[in-house]
Amino acid sequence: MTDPRIIVALDCGDRDQALNLAGRLDPGLCRLKVGKELFTSTGPGLVRELMAAGFEVFLDLKFHDIPTTVAQACKAAARLGVWMVNVHALGGRKMLQAARDALGQVAHRPKLVAVTLLTSLERGDLAEIGLRGEPAEHVARLASLAQDCGLDGVVCSAQEAAGLRRTLGLSFCLVTPGIRTAGVARDDQNRVATPAGAVRAGADYLVIGRQVSRAADPRAALVAIQREMDSAN
Ligand code: C5P
Repeated sequence: MTDPRIIVALDCGDRDQALNLAGRLDPGLCRLKVGKELFTSTGPGLVRELMAAGFEVFLDLKFHDIPTTVAQACKAAARLGVWMVNVHALGGRKMLQAARDALGQVAHRPKLVAVTLLTSLERGDLAEIGLRGEPAEHVARLASLAQDCGLDGVVCSAQEAAGLRRTLGLSFCLVTPGIRTAGVARDDQNRVATPAGAVRAGADYLVIGRQVSRAADPRAALVAIQREMDSAN
């Protein structure tokens, strides 16, 4: 089994569109991310179809609830057979440990990663919910909590990846969205990194959406991104 480092975000709400894009990709070159919009529209059936087509799936539902509920949701994701699942680190230690313990008992164990702070939150937003200080301080603290609770890694921006790699070590998995090859439209992303930049910063997996999904030839776009990543090694 290959270990593709590119995770293509299927950011649509339509089964046919998602399957059409998946059909133009290659499970040897990428994994797929199914998020809240697509999952809420299509349910676990689509995830099964994508897996039947040979893709490994990152179920990006960012669970955040009381420990028992999150533990049960993680078990359901494991039963579905996904490769990666995520939770919010802000759910706290008991919730993170419950998620980890729930997956410790399953036959097919997905990787469990945490979202630290949503990148949409700025300093002012944090102050309003009672979190003082810089977003980066909270990211570092929450990533360290996730590691301490036995999670496999975190989702973070490539800008944060280098620092987290230094403090959390080589085996902690870093998943980075916000990737754009130089010269490609940033759309609504601000703090972007190139594929090579993300790899150099220590990212293990790169979440890439529009640069692939909007390409005239999504497979060729994937190959080009992979080539750029390889050039960074
Ligand atoms: O199209 P683009 O490459 O910008 O898509 C990035 C994907 O990564 C989207 O699915 C988006 O929701 C997700 N994401 C992100 N920034 C985060 C976390 C997730 O862009 N901090």
